[in-house]
Amino acid sequence: MQIDEDKLRSYYAEAPEDISLADVDLARIPHHVSIIMDGNGRWAQARGLDRSEGHVAGVDSLREAVTTSVRLGVDVFSVYAFSTENWRRPQHEVDLLMHLFATTLVAELPLFHQENVKLRFFGDLDALPQETRDVFQQGLDETADHTGMTFALAVNYGSRAEIVKAARELAAEAVRGDIQPQDIDADMLAGHLYTAGLPDPELLIRTSGEQRLSNYLLWQLAYTEFYVTDTYWPDFSRWDYLRAIRDFQGRHRRFGGVVNK
Ligand code: IPE
Ligand code: IPE
Ligand code: MG
Repeated sequence: MQIDEDKLRSYYAEAPEDISLADVDLARIPHHVSIIMDGNGRWAQARGLDRSEGHVAGVDSLREAVTTSVRLGVDVFSVYAFSTENWRRPQHEVDLLMHLFATTLVAELPLFHQENVKLRFFGDLDALPQETRDVFQQGLDETADHTGMTFALAVNYGSRAEIVKAARELAAEAVRGDIQPQDIDADMLAGHLYTAGLPDPELLIRTSGEQRLSNYLLWQLAYTEFYVTDTYWPDFSRWDYLRAIRDFQGRHRRFGGVVNK
């Protein structure tokens, strides 16, 4: 995606000591960056606040991360916001998150218009409360013609459920006689995932120090570079994002081949 260098430089002015824009190669920004936004609850607990305060504070980090992605010229930016397992949380926390998704999305629509961001969702939205579904649909409709960065929000997303859905759809096509089982290949299966048509993430960031995928994009992360930071999500800034990209650019990606250097 096109980078506006003037905007980027002023966005990244006043650098801390350990990192600056000069530390990354703007010609090698990953096309798809994905983040498992984790640690909202611990951020709040460490301050003697309710977990919900952590989720509210996390919205500010997300807004900044969307803007950072746009400024850096990322093509696709995706985030894990609510997993198929997160329904196990106390009902009041689930309710708060669902309401927060709806209110945040409405509040951020002007940003998406201003930055030409196209919205997309990963996950089964049918199970969400009506308010949240309606707002999500409004977001999809209003950004459908945007041609800039794709921002994907994974809500009620689980990778295993996603792969099961793809398998069911392919099986139904086979039963109808539209395809033969031997026609099914990796590309065809990928075309039935929520990420259909998008490149796989090149960089996956997880905050709060946890080193696991928690059922996120199991298929799509086959060759993705992982970056784990101890920073809790509400503290994650444009500088942490830059640190992750600098780290990514120092990796040697081999895709099963030999070192190409
Ligand atoms: C991530 O923060 C947000 C969601 C999963 C919705 P958590 O709520 O998981 O925060 P911790 O991991 O309990 O600190
Ligand atoms: C993963 O975080 C899901 C999201 C960030 C939305 P969790 O906090 O739910 O993951 P676990 O339970 O620590 O694996
Ligand atoms: Mg967590």
